[in-house]
Amino acid sequence: MKEQEIALVTGAGQGIGLATVERLLEDGFYIVMVDRSVEPLTGTAKRLLAEGKALEHHALSITDRPAVAALIGALPRLDVLVNNAAVFWDGKFDTVTEDDFRAMYDVNVIGTFVMAQEAIKKMQRGARIINVASRAYLAGYAHAPYVTSKAGTIGLMRGMAMDLAEKGIFVNAVAPGLIETEMFRSLTPERQHELISKQPTKTIGQPEDIANGIAFFADRRTKNITGQIMTLDGGRSMGISLY
Ligand SMILES: NC(=O)c1ccc[n+]([C@@H]2O[C@H](COP(=O)([O-])OP(=O)(O)OC[C@H]3O[C@@H](n4cnc5c(N)ncnc54)[C@H](O)[C@@H]3O)[C@@H](O)[C@H]2O)c1
Repeated sequence: MKEQEIALVTGAGQGIGLATVERLLEDGFYIVMVDRSVEPLTGTAKRLLAEGKALEHHALSITDRPAVAALIGALPRLDVLVNNAAVFWDGKFDTVTEDDFRAMYDVNVIGTFVMAQEAIKKMQRGARIINVASRAYLAGYAHAPYVTSKAGTIGLMRGMAMDLAEKGIFVNAVAPGLIETEMFRSLTPERQHELISKQPTKTIGQPEDIANGIAFFADRRTKNITGQIMTLDGGRSMGISLY
């Protein structure tokens, strides 16, 4: 029998990360859940374990290189890394502080880099890395630090795709638009309404919609594609709301 593939998902305790965990479990992966917040990670993992799901969970920050190295070093194999963990807050360019700018970059870009660099030590030919970026990598009002960090995850994805292609490791990204998670609910109702009104579909996506895109890149049958972005944003990136 073929050995079970292992997928590591960061930011796995809630939102898009949790939907990805549930989807990749359905697809037959053994899952390693990582999140820096002990809850809801632990409670969620316990619920899934009680349902007989094959997984383990670890509370650590993706920026903590020694902890990341110890975790990945102890795994028997690693087939898929989903770099989903990130932080988000609004920040107008003229008032955003240097500390805030660095704090977001540190998690969203450096944390993603640390995870991927440790992961490739364990990965074999055919492994897959998926960065969860955001449609906001293109632009967004009052989002300068977030736009910068998500453009960074796209740039990092392309750089990794080039350097890892010869090793047979595929690297791609998904770029979600508005998705109904805690991250979105942290915005004021007025801001939520304003953002939804800019969607051509006038709807908000669900975490499962993004998990579907991630599952495509995570599937071992998905080959010959690397360095690419799948945008799942209700059509907003077409720019229809501009006309
Ligand atoms: N929700 C949206 O509308 C939306 C849109 C576009 C892109 N995204 C992206 O999708 C991804 C998931 O977003 P979400 O809405 O599910 O967010 P969320 O805030 O609900 O979940 C993010 C998770 O990441 C974890 N996390 C944060 N920093 C971490 C760190 N240093 N180490 C480990 N874990 C950490 C948090 O504890 C949290 O559980 C993020 O990369 C986000 O930028 C979200």
